[in-house]
Amino acid sequence: MTVEEVREFLREVHHPAKEDRDIVELGMVQDIEINEGGVTVTLGFPKQRDPLKKYIIGATRASLIRHLGQGVKSEVKEIEIETPAPKKGTEFTKETLLSVKHIIGIASGKGGVGKSTVAVNLAVALARLGYKVGLADADVYGPSVPVMTGTEGYRPVAEEINGKDYIVPLEKYGVKWMSIGYFAEKGQALVWRGPMASNALKQLILQVNWGPLDFLLIDMPPGTGDIHISLTQEIGIEGAVIVTTPQTVALADVEKGANMFRNENIAKPIYGLVENMAWFTPEEHPDEKYYIFGRDGGAKMASELGIPLLGRIPLVQSIRENGDDGTPAALSSRPDGVAFVELAGALAEAVK
Ligand SMILES: Nc1ncnc2c1ncn2[C@@H]1O[C@H](COP(=O)(O)OP(=O)(O)O)[C@@H](O)[C@H]1O
Ligand SMILES: [Mg+2]
Repeated sequence: MTVEEVREFLREVHHPAKEDRDIVELGMVQDIEINEGGVTVTLGFPKQRDPLKKYIIGATRASLIRHLGQGVKSEVKEIEIETPAPKKGTEFTKETLLSVKHIIGIASGKGGVGKSTVAVNLAVALARLGYKVGLADADVYGPSVPVMTGTEGYRPVAEEINGKDYIVPLEKYGVKWMSIGYFAEKGQALVWRGPMASNALKQLILQVNWGPLDFLLIDMPPGTGDIHISLTQEIGIEGAVIVTTPQTVALADVEKGANMFRNENIAKPIYGLVENMAWFTPEEHPDEKYYIFGRDGGAKMASELGIPLLGRIPLVQSIRENGDDGTPAALSSRPDGVAFVELAGALAEAVK
């Protein structure tokens, strides 16, 4: 019997008042001593009275007897320990964002207009222009960054820096990605795991070790609501880009989206509107443009709302396919790839 073996089986002793974690994990096993006289385990208890002390000592004793047998002498000692200081890093500050120059929310009045497609491709295009870029997928209702970047299997890991735990973002296509989807099981609705459960969204952004960035884009949930307000206030989103499709009926949604950022509780600039699916170009006829949702709808919306039209993205099959297979269209030199790079240039200009 080795010290390690004893430590392992002692994991069966759980502390019912401490989320049922085991005494090894809780750091209560101060010492394990093995000699001819038998096995002595020393448990540390905090100065304050632990009402379950007797129970824990008894359960530890029972565990020793069960594993060592009646023939081996075993003993459980207790010592008093100082209560360790609470681990730092359990509260989130904007510290990790201090080295980020621009934090920009990508928003839309409603879902399905291509907000995530635009956010992901904009990030890749900004990186192509030489900027340091991160993207946080904060769409709790339907995180799509994992699929769109081909990073579904990624499980976030933590690293400790100066005694604080940080989440490491995933790097691909020159962009640092973090998604609420990385914390969910594939094909499942969001199931929060362990310590990730609370404050998930804030943690998703504030506890990530982004490093120095020129742009941190936030793929916000569709619509306008409390999540948006708290994200904007607590993360310190500097301004927004609103994504829409050109139909006239979309105007009301865009207006809602715009008013949210103009609301006195938020009051952040809107850098502009992105008109997605501005025209349709068939794959076999790359020079043709069909304005199936009407022409210049985006430009009209933008001028009615008094915001610039930042860019127009065509509706092409390859954008959808690239989204599905995790290779963003912005990586290509096709016209749609170029449209994203132009959009990125316009945004970089607008935030200056
Ligand atoms: N310009 C485009 N051309 C072709 N397909 C597009 C385009 N923009 C978005 N899509 C497709 O439309 C669907 C919805 O887009 P998505 O970005 O997920 O929308 P949202 O984030 O607003 O809900 C996806 O399948 C996406 O691939
Ligand atoms: Mg989306």
